[in-house]
Amino acid sequence: MRGKPLSDMLGIELIDFDITRPCGPEEQAELRHLFCEHHFLLIRGQKLTDEDHDRFGKYFGPLSLPPKGADAGYVTNKEEQVVGRLGTGTDMLLWHADGAYGPHPGIGTSLWAKELTPGTTPTLFLNAVRALETLPPRLRARIGTLSAVHMRDTGIVRTAQPFRDSAQPQNVEAGLVRSYQHPIIYRPPHIDAQVLYVNELMTSHIAELPREEGEALLQELFNHLYADHNVYSHEWQLNDVIIWDNIALQHCRPKAVGSGQRHLRRLSLDGWNTEGGVMKWYATGMPRDLALMEGRDLAIA
Ligand SMILES: [Fe+2]
Repeated sequence: MRGKPLSDMLGIELIDFDITRPCGPEEQAELRHLFCEHHFLLIRGQKLTDEDHDRFGKYFGPLSLPPKGADAGYVTNKEEQVVGRLGTGTDMLLWHADGAYGPHPGIGTSLWAKELTPGTTPTLFLNAVRALETLPPRLRARIGTLSAVHMRDTGIVRTAQPFRDSAQPQNVEAGLVRSYQHPIIYRPPHIDAQVLYVNELMTSHIAELPREEGEALLQELFNHLYADHNVYSHEWQLNDVIIWDNIALQHCRPKAVGSGQRHLRRLSLDGWNTEGGVMKWYATGMPRDLALMEGRDLAIA
């Protein structure tokens, strides 16, 4: 399988891979290997079906349950009602990794640009493995044993303001606020790497430091993470299929540009395939039984 690099930071485009043709176990393992190495795969310019998209996602791991009554989640600005709509994709969305506020942040997410007009809003990605590798030694030494608390208030829709100061008391009482503490130097379950694991949308505070000191440290880490040279901007084309590592990478969306149509079909992984079987790793930040009951994925889209 041949790939063309998308940037110095992350990602390859698979240039001789046919997504409409079922893959055998060896090709599937190669796809997972490329995913683990580059964190982001792109397949461009092919005509595919929902079944092709689903089958491709399943090479990497079991798929999360779709939203109730839908075949998949959708990030779409279509005007009519879309079953499974997770968001319109028109608002600015701060940098984040889906599910960071839960014990098992999702390993992978795939989007397929099913309907698209040229010049729509891009999606931005950055490599948080590389960010940790390039962190100045002084900062690296400071975060060595620290952990960060991540949160999300699921009772409100918020994409352009951090959650760190956002918990509504009534939502806390109703159990709608989810939070979880992870080491800032985070070790993902599926790759032999470490990740700088704080993000501007969901990271509330550093657990071991007084708030002001922790906030200053977070800002230093954000300045490093979100420097322009770390960012890859994915400019969508019709029928692009991407799958990315949601732990190794962070993603965000700038303010909507243009008013073109943007209808993206979304799948997320709920586990990871290995040669020896499926590694269970529940992507959702909510209790598994509740997620099953509600049949939904708590994506921010
Ligand atoms: Fe997201």
